[in-house]
Amino acid sequence: MHCAGVLRLGNIVPDFSAKTTHGDWSSFHEWVGDSWCILFSHPADFTPVCTTEIGRLALKYEWFKERNVKVATLSVDPVDSHNTWLQDVVAHCENGITIDFPIIADADRTISTKYGMLDPANIADTGLPLTIRAVFILDPEKKLKLQLNYPASVGRNMDEICRCIEALQLSAKSSIATPANWPNNHDSIGMKGSVFLLPTVTKEDADAYFKEYKTCEVPSGKEYLRLVKQENLPQ
Ligand code: BEZ
Repeated sequence: MHCAGVLRLGNIVPDFSAKTTHGDWSSFHEWVGDSWCILFSHPADFTPVCTTEIGRLALKYEWFKERNVKVATLSVDPVDSHNTWLQDVVAHCENGITIDFPIIADADRTISTKYGMLDPANIADTGLPLTIRAVFILDPEKKLKLQLNYPASVGRNMDEICRCIEALQLSAKSSIATPANWPNNHDSIGMKGSVFLLPTVTKEDADAYFKEYKTCEVPSGKEYLRLVKQENLPQ
C-alpha cells in the first residue's frame, strides 16, 4: 500500500479513467481540460464529517466556477451509494444546495493508490483501507500545485481551500508569494493584504515592474521583505 504524499509538487498528476456520479470518464485529464482543478477525497459516504464537507464544498461551487476551477471528489464507495448519500448531504446543508460536481467511485482503489490517498489507520469492514481527506489543487497543465492531507478525524475548512486557490492563481500571474495569514497580514503598517516580491526578483526588475513596493527595514539590513499591494501588481 502507498502512503499519503507520494505525488510531488510541480509534477503532472497521473491520469485515470473512472466511474462517477456524472457518468464514466475515459480520462481525468481530458475532463479537467483547460481549467484548474480541485480533486478532493473523503473517507466514506454516510459518515458525519464527510456529509458536512461535501455540503460546504457545494456552497463554494459557484466561487470555484468563477475562477475556472473544476471540482471532483472521490471515495471508495460505488456510484449508487454516492447518489443515495447525496440526498442526505443536500438535506443536511442549510442553504438549498445542489451538488453540481462529480463524485468518483474508486471501489478498487486504483486511483487512491496512484495518488497515495489510502489511510492505513482507517480500515473498512472489508479489510481494505479508506481514503484520507486529501485535497489536490492542479493547474491547467495538470501539475500538482498544492496538496493538503487531513486525517478522518479533522474536517476541512473550505475557506482555506479558497484562500489557497486565490494565492496560487495570483502567484501564477506575478513573481510574488503570499505571506502568513494572507490576506489578513501587515495591517499594522497599512499594507493589509500585501504580497511579497519573490527573492529572485532583481532590484532592477522590482523597480521596473512593481509600482510602489515597500522594502521593510529589519535588523539584518537585508532587503528581502519587499511588500507590494495587490492593486499595484502588474496586470
Ligand atoms: C466522518 O466523516 O465523520 C468520519 C469518517 C471516517 C472516520 C471518522 C469520521
